Amino acid sequence: MKIVTNLEEWRAIRAALDGDRAPEVGFVPTMGALHAGHASLFERSRKENRITAGSILVNPTQFNDPSDYEKYPKTWDKDVALLEKLGVDYLLAPLMDAMYPDRYRYFVDERELSKVLCGAHRPGHFQGVLTVVMKLLNLVRPDRAYFGEKDYQQLQLISGMARAFFMGCEIVPCPIVREADGLAMSSRNARLSADHRERAPAFYRALSSGKSVEWIRETLETEGFEVEYLEDRDGRRFGAVWLGGIRLIDNVSMGEARSG
Ligand code: PAJ
Repeated sequence: MKIVTNLEEWRAIRAALDGDRAPEVGFVPTMGALHAGHASLFERSRKENRITAGSILVNPTQFNDPSDYEKYPKTWDKDVALLEKLGVDYLLAPLMDAMYPDRYRYFVDERELSKVLCGAHRPGHFQGVLTVVMKLLNLVRPDRAYFGEKDYQQLQLISGMARAFFMGCEIVPCPIVREADGLAMSSRNARLSADHRERAPAFYRALSSGKSVEWIRETLETEGFEVEYLEDRDGRRFGAVWLGGIRLIDNVSMGEARSG
């Protein structure tokens, strides 16, 4: 019997037991209503792994607002066609009863980062995200999983969870894909009216202006946005705003803000 106290050594032993003949698997979890931002994650996974799997699941436990859940855009046929075109090997689309055999009794809880920024305004949101991502990663057991910096706080929380629970999956951050006018691509953009869609890019313009948070708040309020939060944290500038009843989030690095 070999006694192992060093976890790095244990990881190497366990990896050797798996052998190196299994193909590398990349995974991209989504809630559907796919756009070019999602596509960039699948393309990256296709480049870096032999097999790419994705999931489409509008996860009820991460919606703190029932009407946001009900109105979440669904474009199944278009999504499937896009994933076929991108060469994705497997698409997981499980029913909710199968995903939650525990009937919502078990949750993953984080006690610091999940309480600030979006977490301060959407109680339970990150608990729901971490729980469903833990379930999906356990089901798929990918070598790498791809997440967008568009949801930067989510990405940080998932990376932290993977480390905290020794999940053995690399969490790969992917840059934000924007529309030509700067608006970060998001499934919810489809719900903006034509007028609000035209005004929406002012959010990124202000966030990346390099001006003070107070200036950005005033500018956005003058332009008809309701500001939920604007905050500098860990070398980035984060914001969430409402426009015509639609919630938009974005973030930029401080370097990007200064040169903006
Ligand atoms: P969803 O909003 O569908 O996003 C799926 C993935 O695409 C996330 O990692 C998100 O950050 C990324 N993404 C969205 N818009 C992007 C953009 N403009 N540029 C780059 N990446 C972008 O995030 C979720 O779903 C859910 O919370 C999920 C992780 C699937 C758990 O339910």
